Amino acid sequence: MKFNLSEVNDLIRSRRSIRPEQFSSRKVQKDQIELILTNAQWAPNHGNTEPWRFHVFMSEESRTELSQKLGSLYLETTDASSQNDSKLAKLMRRPSISSVVVAVSMSRQKEEKIPEIEEVEAVACAIQNMQLTANAYGIGCFWSTPKLIYSEKMIEYLSLEAKDKCLGLLYFGYPKDEWPKSHRKPIEYNTVWKTQ
Ligand SMILES: Cc1cc2nc3c(=O)[nH]c(=O)nc-3n(C[C@H](O)[C@H](O)[C@H](O)COP(=O)(O)O)c2cc1C
Repeated sequence: MKFNLSEVNDLIRSRRSIRPEQFSSRKVQKDQIELILTNAQWAPNHGNTEPWRFHVFMSEESRTELSQKLGSLYLETTDASSQNDSKLAKLMRRPSISSVVVAVSMSRQKEEKIPEIEEVEAVACAIQNMQLTANAYGIGCFWSTPKLIYSEKMIEYLSLEAKDKCLGLLYFGYPKDEWPKSHRKPIEYNTVWKTQ
């Protein structure tokens, strides 16, 4: 066996979404984020386009700016009739109660030879690598996809190209409580075996 499978299983299965509201004030360090981003880059990607892009909001100032921006984008991109004060407050609070926020985006290949869905899939694989690396450190991670991240205004804010897409905000922090547990259905529910 090349790796200790029992540890690999544990790492994969104990990865949990931990919301910023559950984070303590303990800081995530820059070298930890560097390793998280480096491992992200080892994700499979069709045609070696390496389509992932990262914006790291680490300082308090940058997270405050992000918070303000998320607030204004929410108001600009949500119909007045659907705006919800508690949603807005939660959205704006999350950057300040997290240690680090990383906006993860897909940079569309200029020639558009690779189907867009495959570029998105590659970035999703990169995000999984980020979550697993955070898990190995005992750092909580939460992948958040409020609708506003798919807006043109978000693309503008992150200085991306028109065909690029922001795929999520990843919030990082140490959990203040116990590491949450979860469960999954047995594979019999979702697998068809062709054995002959
Ligand atoms: C593409 C994607 C987008 C997600 N966006 C959100 C989100 O906006 N809000 C949220 O509460 N969870 C979001 N999640 C996290 C899921 O809620 C979470 O993975 C799921 O509840 C399973 O829990 P676990 O990650 O602890 O196994 C997202 C997950 C994925 C894969």
